[in-house]
Amino acid sequence: MANNKNIAVKVASRTQLNEDIVRLTLVALDGSPLPAWEPGAHIELQLSTGNGTDEDAIMLRHYSLCGDYNCTDNWEVAVLREQSGRGGSAYIHEKLKEGDVVKVSGPRNHFPFKPGKKVLFIAGGIGITPILPMIQQAEAEGIDWRLVYLSRERSRLVYLDRFEEYDSKRIRLNGDVEDGFCDLVELLSTCDSETTVYSCGPKPLLDALENLHREQKEAGWSLTIERFTAKESALDQSGSFDVVINSTGKRVHIPEGQSILETLRDQGIRITCSCRDGVCGTCETGVLAGLPDHRDSVLSEEERADNDYMMVCVSRALSEELVLDL
Ligand code: FES
Repeated sequence: MANNKNIAVKVASRTQLNEDIVRLTLVALDGSPLPAWEPGAHIELQLSTGNGTDEDAIMLRHYSLCGDYNCTDNWEVAVLREQSGRGGSAYIHEKLKEGDVVKVSGPRNHFPFKPGKKVLFIAGGIGITPILPMIQQAEAEGIDWRLVYLSRERSRLVYLDRFEEYDSKRIRLNGDVEDGFCDLVELLSTCDSETTVYSCGPKPLLDALENLHREQKEAGWSLTIERFTAKESALDQSGSFDVVINSTGKRVHIPEGQSILETLRDQGIRITCSCRDGVCGTCETGVLAGLPDHRDSVLSEEERADNDYMMVCVSRALSEELVLDL
């Protein structure tokens, strides 16, 4: 469930899990319990660049909660240093220290865990983070679960200590270098209509799973994924249309090649955003009339069909006009 309240939290500890991944534990500044959350939830860190006070001086970054979901004393996140990122992960790795205070909003959950009888988790790299509390819940509920945890090299796999309490037969670790690439077709051939596949990881992995899900429709397994980067359709900005700002009646033409978000910003209409890739949910905007062309990775099939909200950083319009709740 969305929770947009800002909370001040303190970095209680930071631990380097490997050369690229740092784990942070966060506690409320006043020591009070933190809001409860469910597996799949993430929080939004508001990182100040120190360059002025307007919203461009704040980087909003989203990280999956990966600790014990029964614990409200602290939150835990793990941050991968993105080599070609936009500065958020570099800031956390290089500047954020124990004792620093950060504003946080959330938790929000766009990757809810609703398991069937059997679950296959497929985690790629840092994509293990939202999966960890899902495994905790699956184990607690006696669900028949398996995990395939993929990485370039086995030495880059993190959080292996969390698996010690589980039956090792449920867990398969796969380093491309040591074990070769995981054969996804073979892996998914073990799934049936009682199996839900939950996956988080790099784009090629998730694209491959979505393709196989389409190809193996008759097998009946279902797929739920969380993306950290834009899917292909989010990059396509073809077609032009108009947006009407409901509160003022102002009409803005959205040209081909430019997003609603960028065009409105150019007109002085600011909408809070973060990823600009349709994966975080920050720019969610109400739709009062017209038909959005959803290109995000956040809304569920049902939410898309309702057409009540859209992510204006990537989504476009199927109608000539959209009236936005702005
Ligand atoms: S800014 Fe992240 S979904 Fe639009």
